[in-house]
Amino acid sequence: MHNDIPALPLNNGNRIPQLGLGVFQVDNAEDTKNAIKWALAAGYRHIDTAAYYGNEQWVGEAIRESGLKREDVFVTSKLWNSERGYDETKAAFQATLDRLGFDYLDMFLIHWPAPGYVDSWKAMEDLYKEGKIKNIGVSNFNQKQMDEILKAGTVKPVVDQIETHPYFQQDEMHAYLESKGILHEAWSPLGGGNNNALSDPVINELAAAHDVSAAQIILRWHVQREEIVIPKSIHEARVQQNRDIFAFGLNQDEMRAIANLDAGKRVGPDPDDAAWLKKSQTYSSRK
Ligand code: A2P
Repeated sequence: MHNDIPALPLNNGNRIPQLGLGVFQVDNAEDTKNAIKWALAAGYRHIDTAAYYGNEQWVGEAIRESGLKREDVFVTSKLWNSERGYDETKAAFQATLDRLGFDYLDMFLIHWPAPGYVDSWKAMEDLYKEGKIKNIGVSNFNQKQMDEILKAGTVKPVVDQIETHPYFQQDEMHAYLESKGILHEAWSPLGGGNNNALSDPVINELAAAHDVSAAQIILRWHVQREEIVIPKSIHEARVQQNRDIFAFGLNQDEMRAIANLDAGKRVGPDPDDAAWLKKSQTYSSRK
């Protein structure tokens, strides 16, 4: 099947593979390293981790063991909510780099808009200017929080990684990000596996019509919306299947049928939930 993974242009002239492997909740060395091994063998060249996931060390090991060159794999990690302030952010970034065993990172994101993110952003801008991080961005930022970064900063975030799936489509945020030249990256692209988007009858009808799986229909919908997607799986067949989404297309009616499924239904926390953000700052960022 001819299905090269496209590399989307970022607002700083760099590129990012549109599909990556996510490793949220992959909490042991064996699963992390296997999933990455299968993904790289299937042609993925983008891995999405975070300090909070506790698996950066195994991500670094898996990439070294793959035999690929470091520069051939785009690796993202994220600054956890407990790390705020200029010096703290620089130290936390160095700790991420050390756990990965890398001397630079492809992309570093502020994981959530927990208070203090402007000071953290300034440190990330300096690390970017020093070349230690090739691309900087944010995750879970709403328009107001993004506007604050755009106003206070000198470097524009390249992406905003936000919860997005057929039951929570983020159309308004997508249009806003597009207007700012910031790419929309979708986390939990399949809906986290527990809100039934995968068993939705509309999705399954489309899957039967295209002779693909429900997951492939959903991932294809994301890529046609110009989003970056980072589905997680620890099963080899699923890792491979999730990569096979570039050799078929959904027409306008099919895209519209999925658009009609939007239910404003999150599976994760709300970036407007100040109490949760504050509490999350007490959660440890590493195992
Ligand atoms: P598993 O790791 O056991 O395969 P999201 O990335 O939207 O958060 O979704 C991840 C969930 O969806 C995980 O529970 C993952 O489970 C499951 N998943 C990933 N790929 C597929 C697939 N192709 N078919 C069915 N479930 C999948």
